[in-house]
Amino acid sequence: MKRFTKIGAAAGIVAVMLFTAACGGGTNNGGGNSPVDAPANNASSGEAPADGKVVLGFSQVGAESGWRTANSDSIKESAKAAGFELKFSDAQQKQENQIKALRSFIQQKVDVIAFSPVVESGWDTVLQEAKDAGIPVILTDRAVDSKDTSLYKTFIGSDFVEEGRRAGKWLVEQFKDAAEPVKIVELQGTTGSAPAIDRKSGFEEIIKENPNLQIVASQTGDFTRAKGKEVMQSFLQAHPDIDVLYAHNDDMGLGAIQAIEAAGLVPGKDIIIITVDAVKDGMTAAAEGKINFIVECNPLLGPQLMQAVNDVLAGKEIESRIVTEEGTFTSEEAKAVLADRKY
Ligand code: AHR
Repeated sequence: MKRFTKIGAAAGIVAVMLFTAACGGGTNNGGGNSPVDAPANNASSGEAPADGKVVLGFSQVGAESGWRTANSDSIKESAKAAGFELKFSDAQQKQENQIKALRSFIQQKVDVIAFSPVVESGWDTVLQEAKDAGIPVILTDRAVDSKDTSLYKTFIGSDFVEEGRRAGKWLVEQFKDAAEPVKIVELQGTTGSAPAIDRKSGFEEIIKENPNLQIVASQTGDFTRAKGKEVMQSFLQAHPDIDVLYAHNDDMGLGAIQAIEAAGLVPGKDIIIITVDAVKDGMTAAAEGKINFIVECNPLLGPQLMQAVNDVLAGKEIESRIVTEEGTFTSEEAKAVLADRKY
């Protein structure tokens, strides 16, 4: 099918910014990307530290997207508000850096380790080392595929498969009357990461309902704007008649929009665009009609994390999975909430 015309105002779920167990806001403590080298409290088997000051070691994926910046800010602000000492380490999208940071936290005997794993696999050894040292671990944002779930206390974050399904459902509805093939290109997130794997599988699960919806090209854009632009350029060269772009995050979608415009096409009209995240830049593009549909992925995980840290140290029972609540936005819905969007 060439050139989609009906862009219905599909009934999206307006974003619900509800956070369970929030423990208050605060200002940025400027935790920075400093190496993790300062001394910390004695390790405990999930017990509150004797001197009352909780030391939290947090290993972040990197700074690849607007989502990640908002997530890092949320962690830093919430740690400060909770009165914790935060040791924040930026892994620059490399698993080896995260493993080093985790080992450094263990060596420093922090009270709790939290991290957002860049990829799903390869964590068992270092998680076992943390367990042996009696340091509880909390996963945020992304999951690991470890079979032994006793290696971590909980996983706080979005349901990425559901995000992919939401993107797919909107598309199926828009093209329900299509009589010809609809050509879709997909910009995947970082290879091997939970959001890339799950957003792809959730989307495919739904679009297979309609055999006319065909993914003609799918490649990683590593969740960055620059890579999104570069890969979209090659998609446009290989497939001059693309109908739909599904990008696993806003940043890749925004990079792709630059490539689409440079090719003389109109994003949101000549090519229908679906992204995930709903950060301010993505919402702005949606309000301008350049992105047609955004599935929200909430980065403000700091309050839930600090609550979980307190609960673990207090020896309370904690849910093994804490799912973030989120919604979706059509262009019209993005326009309506843009002015109040915080990140
Ligand atoms: O893990 C969450 C994903 O990571 C976000 O959707 C993406 O923008 C980020 O880089």
